[in-house]
Amino acid sequence: MSTPWWRDAAIYQIYPRSFRDTNADGEGDLAGIIEGLPYLKRLGVDAIWLSPFFKSPNRDGGYDVADPRLVDPRFGDNEAAERLIAAAHDHGLKIIFDVVPNHFSSDHIWFQEALAAKPGSPERARFHFYEGKGADGSIPPNNWNSVFGGSCWTRITEADGSAGQWYLHLFDTSQPDLNWENPEVAADFEKTLRFWLDRGVDGFRVDVAHGLVKEGISVDHPDPEGLTRALRFDAEFEDKEYRAQLLSNMPFFDREGVHDIYRAWRKILDSYAGDRMAVAEAFISPSSRIARYVRPDELHQSFNFDFMLADWSAAEMRVAIQQTSAELSEVGAVPTWVLNNHDSSRVVSRLGDEGKARALALLTHALPGGLYVYQGEELGLPDGVIPDSARQDPVFFRTNGADKGRDGARVPLPWKSAELNLGFSTGEPWLPLPSEYGMHSVDVEELNPHSMLNFYRTSLGLRKSHPDLGARSELTWLYSHEGVLSFKRGESLTVVANTTEEQLSLPESAKAILLASNGDTTLENGVLTIPSHSTVWLTN
Ligand code: GLC
Repeated sequence: MSTPWWRDAAIYQIYPRSFRDTNADGEGDLAGIIEGLPYLKRLGVDAIWLSPFFKSPNRDGGYDVADPRLVDPRFGDNEAAERLIAAAHDHGLKIIFDVVPNHFSSDHIWFQEALAAKPGSPERARFHFYEGKGADGSIPPNNWNSVFGGSCWTRITEADGSAGQWYLHLFDTSQPDLNWENPEVAADFEKTLRFWLDRGVDGFRVDVAHGLVKEGISVDHPDPEGLTRALRFDAEFEDKEYRAQLLSNMPFFDREGVHDIYRAWRKILDSYAGDRMAVAEAFISPSSRIARYVRPDELHQSFNFDFMLADWSAAEMRVAIQQTSAELSEVGAVPTWVLNNHDSSRVVSRLGDEGKARALALLTHALPGGLYVYQGEELGLPDGVIPDSARQDPVFFRTNGADKGRDGARVPLPWKSAELNLGFSTGEPWLPLPSEYGMHSVDVEELNPHSMLNFYRTSLGLRKSHPDLGARSELTWLYSHEGVLSFKRGESLTVVANTTEEQLSLPESAKAILLASNGDTTLENGVLTIPSHSTVWLTN
């Protein structure tokens, strides 16, 4: 049996709004992505995943979908989506779309119909509408918080002008949660999956895959504030044990019922030729729970957030790698590796320097399984510094600025250093490009043999061509020296990462350096000298 393409694919995440603008409206578009395909092919990725570009009032960067089967005019139209699918395939790239099943936008026709209809009506039953508590119903149905801060309930005004029912929104008020107990909801999503599968997409990234089923809506949570903090990426949560405890039992996430939904989706995916796949965004704890989403009759992959959140520390990363690999192998699934995305800090900013990010990338590119690369990661972009007046993320507004939100990781890509807006757009970009992005522009990095871009091209190229980096080659752990992570892939490739502050000299039986994140690495007379915070690939 041949190995399905996604098992060890490198998948590049495109945030369409910030990729490349061709119509001067300051936001990227599908035509811009088509223009960028040769660049992505040259980078050495196997597939692209696009964050949502569907009809949306854009209150949460398009994760508030008003029509999942219609391209938002800001990005193009449905013909452009079909052209993009064909163009990606012409370049030998697979293409994955984002599906957002936990909620719709409040602009979706269903929600508008629900507002106009009466309590108890079939229109309201597609969402979670409840009466409030207290004599006048002015207290929300429970004390749960939105992941973005504040209550997750909003009270509506009924059609007759009276204060009405409350609806549940785990995210922004503009993202009413769908009621998955209602078969109409499942039927509509089946229609959406088939709509895009029929048009040739190779798979889906499933947004908030763990959120679709809610339980015990009438019961208050003991620490709703703590739970929100625990749930937010980058939250400084001192008491890690308590954090884990909060995340291990959430009334609105990771309920048993979600798995029936994915079993049904798997049947749909399997009914199409060509290894169509789905990857779950399930930010849940403990990590062993994630394996449940990738059982043989459910989804294919899940993002490995434990690895993404691990410190640059040999010990911590080894635990994350081993644990995930062991848990997933029990269900016959392979891990994925991700260093950042549109919701997190960029990896260079998270680790605080480009050298560490390069070392982490080289380590990650040698791990067995799927790889996700977030646009701009290959250029070594840091988070953009954004004035509060330009911020757009609802997290910033819903926390009254206490959490700056995720805009820093969503700043448009710099293509050409000498052009207006660094070649991203000839219009006013939706978020400002910092001047320091100039030195990270694609044209500058292409010319510099030592740039992050050329480093990624080399390591992604080797990842694909090296016989020991394929899906079937084993990972074997080698010696443990404090602060050093070392493993072998297959027969001939050895990976050594030094996460300490010191340059180390280590006995080494491998014969030659294949690729090093730091050019000062040497291998002479059986001694590997590896600089602080660096990784090397060695061959026999
Ligand atoms: C996911 C998305 C994030 C979005 C949220 C609500 O976590 O990645 O960007 O805000 O879901 O849809």
